[in-house]
Amino acid sequence: MNREYKTLMVTGGAGFMGSNFIRYAFRTAGFKGRILNVDKLTYAGDKENLADLASESETGRYRLLQHDICDHEAMSRIVRDERVDGIVNFAAESHVDRSIAAAQAFGATNVLGTLTLLEAARAAWGDRRDVLFHQISTDEVYGSCPEPREFAEDDRYEPSSPYAASKAAADHMVRSFGVTHGFPYAITHATNNYGPYQTPEKLIPLVLTRLYAQETIPVYGKGDNVREWLFVDDHTSAVWTVITRGKAGESYNIGSGERLTNLDLIHGLGREVAARTGRAPDFFKALMKFVVDRPGHDKRYALNAEKLRRRLGWKPAVSFDQGLKATVAWYGQNEAWMARARTRLGNWLKAEGTAWAKRRS
Ligand SMILES: NC(=O)c1ccc[n+]([C@@H]2O[C@H](COP(=O)([O-])OP(=O)(O)OC[C@H]3O[C@@H](n4cnc5c(N)ncnc54)[C@H](O)[C@@H]3O)[C@@H](O)[C@H]2O)c1
Repeated sequence: MNREYKTLMVTGGAGFMGSNFIRYAFRTAGFKGRILNVDKLTYAGDKENLADLASESETGRYRLLQHDICDHEAMSRIVRDERVDGIVNFAAESHVDRSIAAAQAFGATNVLGTLTLLEAARAAWGDRRDVLFHQISTDEVYGSCPEPREFAEDDRYEPSSPYAASKAAADHMVRSFGVTHGFPYAITHATNNYGPYQTPEKLIPLVLTRLYAQETIPVYGKGDNVREWLFVDDHTSAVWTVITRGKAGESYNIGSGERLTNLDLIHGLGREVAARTGRAPDFFKALMKFVVDRPGHDKRYALNAEKLRRRLGWKPAVSFDQGLKATVAWYGQNEAWMARARTRLGNWLKAEGTAWAKRRS
């Protein structure tokens, strides 16, 4: 089956993965309908991330609506009055360290916000089954994955951080609407994404901003935690595949199989920045500083993404080597974007930063 949408509501579309998804929909997938980007514009959201969609804005095919997804009245009105026929829920508090410092916002946006969207959609959609609610979830809901296993979709949830627990709770809410009401949904669990427009509190952009500025790079513990890295365009193409051709009521893992320790990752980024800037190949080693490990830090993530490959024919198109080079180049060429993102983070720290977050900054 091929699902088509007239009006897609993308929440959190001013953030890293959501903005890449919206751009892909118009520029790569050839989407002919409208996209409503519902975003609260927290410290993580920047409307300039989609400044290149000026022509779609002029024709009304792209609109940014600044709202909190916990706002029941606004969400209900938008889904009903704008005749939304698909929702892709990217909006979230997304940074694990912040959830350790202060978890309440994670409960609000990730759990209550998802529930608010589900209720708004169910009220507007009734018994319609030609619509879809797509929940963007994470590999972190499964918890740490022991060697040499890979987690599949039917593995049990064992979230370690308040962030992962809030995402797990949201998934349970989505699935419960499917079981209880026959509500049409899909869920995708992705591994760590990287690429352009990622806020420099996450590992790769954090390391890159520090490397370019020649500042200290904090490394948790021994740097031996393993993450599976997925280029953001591959995540986007996977989500597009699922919302157009996936089966309602199913969940799919999205992974690349490219697994690295944090130390190997930082070394790779350092060598690439050195090559681009003409610095000594190991200049980055003097910047690295091992810091106290993150409490509850999952040791390893590893997903089995065979279901998505076998059933829907999706596979990643960008190797880690290609993605890393493209990402290092993008951050090197977008200094103004980086400066703005760092200012937003700094402002947040001044206004709301907790002792833990300040220690890490
Ligand atoms: N980054 C990753 O590696 C990764 C991996 C797997 C899954 N995910 C999931 O993907 C989604 C997007 O992640 P990201 O890295 O792009 O996040 P991000 O932090 O870059 O962006 C989140 C966006 O959501 C918006 N937002 C936050 N609270 C909101 C609210 N209450 N109402 C409306 N908008 C709100 C922010 O303004 C921002 O634009 C999240 O659901 C996250 O859990 C992320």
